[in-house]
Amino acid sequence: MKLLAIFIMMLGMSAAHAGSDKSAKSENALWKEECGSCHLAYPPEMMSAENWQKLMGSLDKHFGANAVLNAKDNKLILDFLTHNSGSGSVYNSASLRISDTPWFKREHRSISAKEWVHPQVKSVSNCLACHGSGGHGLWSEHDMHKQDGEAHENHNHS
Ligand code: HEC
Ligand code: HEC
Repeated sequence: MKLLAIFIMMLGMSAAHAGSDKSAKSENALWKEECGSCHLAYPPEMMSAENWQKLMGSLDKHFGANAVLNAKDNKLILDFLTHNSGSGSVYNSASLRISDTPWFKREHRSISAKEWVHPQVKSVSNCLACHGSGGHGLWSEHDMHKQDGEAHENHNHS
C-alpha cells in the first residue's frame, strides 16, 4: 500500500513537471513505462521533434516490433518527446534511429566496427552495455565506462 502511494505521488509529480523547462534529464512516468519496457527509454533530447513524430506515427511497424499504444497515451508521450526533443539537423536520421543521427556518430567516432558487435554489446542500440545502468550515466562523461575505447563494463546481464 505504501509503495502504491509513493508511485501515485511520483505520477503526480511528473504530471506537475510536464510542460516545464527542457532539462537534461526529462522524466515522464508514462513514457518511462511504455517506452522503457523493451529497451531503455531513449531520452527525448537525443532526437528531433520531426523524427519523434514519425516514430510515434508508425509504432505498428517499430523496428520489427509492434509497439502500438492507444491514441491518448500516444499523444501524451509524443507531446513529452517533442517538447524535450533535440533541435537542429544533427538530431535527424532518416532511419528514425538515434544511433544514426550525426551527433551520435560524432560522439562515437572513436568506437570501431568490432566494438559495436562485441558479444557484450551486440547492438549499437544497446546503450546500457557501455553507459551507466539505469540510464543515469548517459549524459555525464565521468559516468561513462570508457576503457581504451572498449566496452569492458557490462551492466546488462542478459
Ligand atoms: C514491443 C517492444 C518495444 C516497445 C514497447 C518500444 N520499442 Fe522501441 N525498439 C524496439 C526494438 C526491437 C528496437 C530495435 C532495437 C535494435 O535494433 O537493437 C527499437 C528501437 C527503438 C529506437 C531506435 C534505437 C536506436 O538504435 O537509436 C527508438 C528511438 C525507439 N525504439 C523508441 C521507442 C519509443 C519512443 C517507444 C515508446 C513509444 C518504444 N520505442 C517502445 C522495441 C520496442
Ligand atoms: C560500444 C559502446 C557504446 C554503445 C553501445 C553506446 N555508446 Fe555512447 N559512448 C560510448 C563512448 C566510449 C563514448 C565516449 C566517446 C569519446 O569520448 O570518444 C560515448 C559517448 C556518448 C555520448 C556523449 C558523451 C556525453 O556524456 O555527453 C552520449 C550522449 C552517448 N554516448 C549516448 C549513447 C546512446 C543514447 C546510446 C544508445 C543508442 C549509446 N551511447 C551507445 C560508448 C558507447
